[in-house]
Amino acid sequence: MTEQHKDIYPVRDEFAQQAWIDRDAYQKLYRQSIDDPDSFWAEQAKRIDWIKTPTKIKNTKFSASDVDIRWFEDGTLNACYNCLDRHLEKRGNQTAIIWEGDDPKDDKTLTYRELYERTCQMANALKELGIKKGDTVTLYMPMIPEAAMAMLACARIGAVHSVVFGGFSPDALAQRINGAQSKVVITADESARGGKFVPLKDNVDAALTRDGTDVVESVLVVKRTGGEIDWNERDIWFHELVDKQDKDCPVEEMAAEDPLFILYTSGSTGAPKGMMHTTGGYLTFAAITHQYVFDYHEGDVYWCTADVGWVTGHSYIVYGPLANGAITLMFEGVPSYPTPGRMGEIVDKHQVNILYTAPTAIRALRAHGDDVMASSKRESLKLLGSVGEPINPEAWEWYYRIIGNSKCPIVDTWWQTENGGILISPLPGATDLKPGCATNPFFGVKPGVVDNDGNLLEGATEGNLVILDAWPGIARSIWNDHERFIQTYFSTYDGMYFTGDGCRRDEDGDYWITGRVDDVLNISGHRMGTAEIESSLVAHEAVAEAAVVGFPHDIKGQGIYIYVTLNDDFDPSDELKKELVQWVRKDIGPIASPDVIQWTPDLPKTRSGKIMRRILRKIAANETEGLGDTSTLSNPAVVEELIANRVNR
Ligand code: WTA
Repeated sequence: MTEQHKDIYPVRDEFAQQAWIDRDAYQKLYRQSIDDPDSFWAEQAKRIDWIKTPTKIKNTKFSASDVDIRWFEDGTLNACYNCLDRHLEKRGNQTAIIWEGDDPKDDKTLTYRELYERTCQMANALKELGIKKGDTVTLYMPMIPEAAMAMLACARIGAVHSVVFGGFSPDALAQRINGAQSKVVITADESARGGKFVPLKDNVDAALTRDGTDVVESVLVVKRTGGEIDWNERDIWFHELVDKQDKDCPVEEMAAEDPLFILYTSGSTGAPKGMMHTTGGYLTFAAITHQYVFDYHEGDVYWCTADVGWVTGHSYIVYGPLANGAITLMFEGVPSYPTPGRMGEIVDKHQVNILYTAPTAIRALRAHGDDVMASSKRESLKLLGSVGEPINPEAWEWYYRIIGNSKCPIVDTWWQTENGGILISPLPGATDLKPGCATNPFFGVKPGVVDNDGNLLEGATEGNLVILDAWPGIARSIWNDHERFIQTYFSTYDGMYFTGDGCRRDEDGDYWITGRVDDVLNISGHRMGTAEIESSLVAHEAVAEAAVVGFPHDIKGQGIYIYVTLNDDFDPSDELKKELVQWVRKDIGPIASPDVIQWTPDLPKTRSGKIMRRILRKIAANETEGLGDTSTLSNPAVVEELIANRVNR
């Protein structure tokens, strides 16, 4: 848990003077957004070019028996039009995307016009493959401009994209293709990351041998590295199909509540959930948060280091920035390659003004010492952002002092895949900063803190973070499973959206996010369900039972600690440990790589057979003093044994 910090970094006058939102504006607009959401959001909807302007603004219901969320429901629009076409007149020749390759020698820029023409060609190509409004398309791509184009091309013709992170395994990909029932998959031969090549196309080939994927008719392959790949009848070279297409493509008129994309994310139980986001509310929310949280002004160079495979990439590399006509930098590689100073070098090279990254990247840099940034000056920076996990005050201070040269406000932005956009964050011209604190709700967001019985707590307090009313960016459902959506988010505390996060509210009313209170892990800012890793492990012939918990990790925030009980015919060995690590990596992907495996003859269970994770978490964290009451266990003796055999990393 992040400890409370006394330091306060007040808003700087110079920053506030040029900012979109200052202290007074925040207070006034926040009140209005809560007291009269209809008028607030009707006004904000003007930032979108509608085909038919909405007259109905908010129509939302949060309850354990019924969840129905509609924003701008009688409006129609096209998201791609809002990100591209409408900028052509004024910004046709302005840079839309700066692309920086994995190799520092590779880079290119695309103007709004170039991005528009290429996207139209891609949209026409998708049509030629038979994709129509309402169909889904799965993207499994490197961080190259074609990924953004593919998303926008889908949006243009009313297709629903489902982007799968390029670090996921063939099985994880297959599961998501099957879930979305996509006829077309877009990929590349390989992706390049940190000087290594990841065989994306081979992974797609492998995924398409799995059950439930025969729905796929075509695989569109971008030639990125020229690496060797197998070729199947369903495969089509991207350039061969796309280059010959017309550079104009009419947009599909979409209802505000038509789906824009699906994005899979992990929960505490079961398979990953396909969060469904719709068009009007999502785009409005991505655009307004991008403008105000990052205080984006015309011409600023903005760089979000996330991957488009995650929601941060959707909202803050593609939709938010492009809807605002921004210059958005897209980086193919990893921040530490070829040298640990790369991130700063990219900032200098492209004169980046706004940098949005994750605490894990900051901690990894900090571990190299203060000189790690010596190869760059970073004088162009004026604002820094953090996302994905709680940022510890030490990492915050280092980010501020070393990367930002002690002159850039840091916005610590808390939000989730389900939220569509940032919900709690400082606004840099309005909010005094506290290292490690996400501070204040964004416009239209009504947070609450409840105890375990769902009682709303007042004043300075600590508990579970809930949101009490709908905002435009919230996911509308889980793809094809509305019941699960209600069950997961609205049944724990009736009438409230439960975030799964714990938080503290201090005397100033500021929110400090303390991390997940459910069985979701956050490994280097990547969400993982313990249930997914456990079910992977028990599929191995040697494993009788497995329990997965997180433990504090200096760089990754959390590491993965696994307790394994073996089947009778198998004996513990270092080889078997290695095999299980590889097994999980292959099954889910390298992000799920176990850090520690402890063999145990038994797991601590309640009399009803439920694994007591609380105890396992404490042992993994080496906090074995206050284990609490273990007398209710069916096998209390196992606890001593687990402590005695704890594995130190
Ligand atoms: C965590 C990423 C503390 C949190 C946008 C949340 C954070 C989960 C922060 C969502 C932050 C994200 N401070 N915790 N600034 N940002 N989280 O869906 O536990 O990949 O529930 O969305 O990340 O992860 P997701």
